[in-house]
Amino acid sequence: MPAITASAPGKIILFGEHAVVYGRPAIAVPVNQVKARAVAMANPHQPSGEVLIQAPDIGFESRLSELPGDHSLAFAVTSVLTELEILRPPAFTLRVTSTIPIAAGLGSGAAVSVAIIRAVSSFLCRPLANEQVSGLAYEVEKHYHGSPSGIDNTVITYNMPVYFVRGRPVETFQVANPFTIVIGDTGIKSPTAIAVGDLRKLWQADPDPYEILFDKTGQIADDARRLIEGGRPDKLGPLMFENQLLLQEMGVSSPELDYLVKVALEAGALGAKLSGGGRGGNMIALVEPEQASSVAKALARGGATRTIITKVGG
Ligand code: MEV
Repeated sequence: MPAITASAPGKIILFGEHAVVYGRPAIAVPVNQVKARAVAMANPHQPSGEVLIQAPDIGFESRLSELPGDHSLAFAVTSVLTELEILRPPAFTLRVTSTIPIAAGLGSGAAVSVAIIRAVSSFLCRPLANEQVSGLAYEVEKHYHGSPSGIDNTVITYNMPVYFVRGRPVETFQVANPFTIVIGDTGIKSPTAIAVGDLRKLWQADPDPYEILFDKTGQIADDARRLIEGGRPDKLGPLMFENQLLLQEMGVSSPELDYLVKVALEAGALGAKLSGGGRGGNMIALVEPEQASSVAKALARGGATRTIITKVGG
């Protein structure tokens, strides 16, 4: 059996994070400069059913049979075996690596799951369709994040810009005119589940003001989609800024994110906002292509631990 390699990109949310958990639309795009990768290779000298999982980036190695069922890597592998109704697969080693920063809003968990699901199902000669891959990755997300919207596993599986509404069929869409985004990392690890959980408590205590914030955010995502499809991404800046103000009101920004947003705007970005769960992790800035490297440098001077320049569309 030949070794099978599968990879999956990172992602950024352009508009609508958090409100998307409450059924409002959001827009996300893949980031192919960072990737999770899974390699499945046969272990012919081991008895069938033996699965060895290695994650050298974090110094991890274990047999599947020795891991608790709710371990994230084990859960992803087992979900494929269950889906394919395979009780004893031929022995194999699964090696997982990733360049996507963890707990930084770039979809690292979903990308690792998607890469594993693709590698294992292809290794077993039963490659799964995108819909199944995304569905299984969503199950893993649910296990770890409580109540995820499903946007991360969707954009990462399809590797295309998506307009996402929870519970509705996937809608990918065309970017009429490519545009450039600079991503800046605060370097602060911030698990999405915590920001989502905290906002949920606030919403449960007093839903009305948060429903208004979510409605306004959904409207912004709709307006943004029209501009992106209409070839006017240069007009997205004010929408990013409005979305950032709403995220601040939801309590999911942070002084470090707000500061990097300000730095990007002062360096000439057309708009900027946090991206993903917030509280830390990454922010994004819309720039003219020729300004990308000066905005990235300004962000690094302002404390960003890493910057990525990415093109959306094209
Ligand atoms: C995380 O990338 C986006 C959030 O809206 C959570 C979710 O949609 O599950 C914060």
